[in-house]
Amino acid sequence: MTEIGIRSIGTSVPEKILTNDDLVKMVDTTDEWITTRTGIKERHILGPDEKLRPHVVAAARTALERAGLQGKDAGFIISSTVIPDRFCPALAYEIAHDLQVERALAFDLNAACSGMIYGLAIAESFLQTRDLAWGLVTGAEQMSTGVDYTDRAGCILFGDAAAAIVVTKERPMHRILATELGSIPSLVNEVHIGGVKDVLNGRMKDYWFRQNGATVMKFAVRILQDLCERVPRKAGIDPAAVRYVVPHQANQRILDAAARGVSKNAEFISVLEKYGNTSSSSVGLALNDTWDRFKPGDLVLLIAFGGGLSWAGALIEW
Ligand code: UT7
Repeated sequence: MTEIGIRSIGTSVPEKILTNDDLVKMVDTTDEWITTRTGIKERHILGPDEKLRPHVVAAARTALERAGLQGKDAGFIISSTVIPDRFCPALAYEIAHDLQVERALAFDLNAACSGMIYGLAIAESFLQTRDLAWGLVTGAEQMSTGVDYTDRAGCILFGDAAAAIVVTKERPMHRILATELGSIPSLVNEVHIGGVKDVLNGRMKDYWFRQNGATVMKFAVRILQDLCERVPRKAGIDPAAVRYVVPHQANQRILDAAARGVSKNAEFISVLEKYGNTSSSSVGLALNDTWDRFKPGDLVLLIAFGGGLSWAGALIEW
């Protein structure tokens, strides 16, 4: 088997910050409720006329610069997004255009908050089976355009962001040891954002993000704990050897509960306070902000869950 790894990362968030105190002026909530129930203090959101595309392109440029690579040479772009700027062309082709990629296999995928890890797993398969040297996996989300800012249970959770990772078989510095992907289709209606017909027909209540928070929370804790066991075992590694867990950033209570049920040797990374839940970008943001703490040989486990309900994990050897 060829060795495949991640080489570098980049992120970008909008300038505008929405704090808990801002939300207190919009809905019936308090900073204390949001902080104790979610761990979130602020999130970045796009302005009304601001697009997602420049952020994901900026994230990709940073990742390319850190890897010493030129966008034009990318072999693929796998772009995870729930709400792109437009349906067609896919965001992946806009990224390819702006990076002046010469010819790349490119497409968008939607596995909700698990999307960036789905992208890593697909990239790994492409690099194993095709004549490609390296490419980009991106996660770019504008959840602020799917959230009802009169719904206090939903609007406090989300932020907007983009992240990009270079995945390569040329000098694969941080090796992907194993990946796991899946979903529980019986829970398909537990997280929901509607479609264009809902908007065109004025059925905004069907469009806005809604979830069954309690069910999702229970599912999330169980699947995160399961992935902490299952992904290392797939690589033939004792789960207790994992040094860092980089989970999807949804709610601090989910992360604390998941961490209580797994090996105490693993540190769960959280950047929730600064960004909130940024769907599939969130694992990228957390990985970026802790990247320099990882030492060669550390085992770093990326795990996520989201709408679908989907789940995904990837074990990286630093
Ligand atoms: O990445 C996508 C997947 N989604 C998730 O990972 C989210 C998973 N779920 C959660 O994070 C939590 O379920 C929430 C943060 C969404 C909600 O927390 P909770 O502890 O499950 O609260 P709850 O829904 O049980 O509501 C408790 C109370 C309710 O009031 P009553 O009925 O007890 O009077 C809510 O109306 O808290 C009320 N409430 C709020 N109060 C103040 C709900 N939102 C707010 C708010 N401020 N923002």
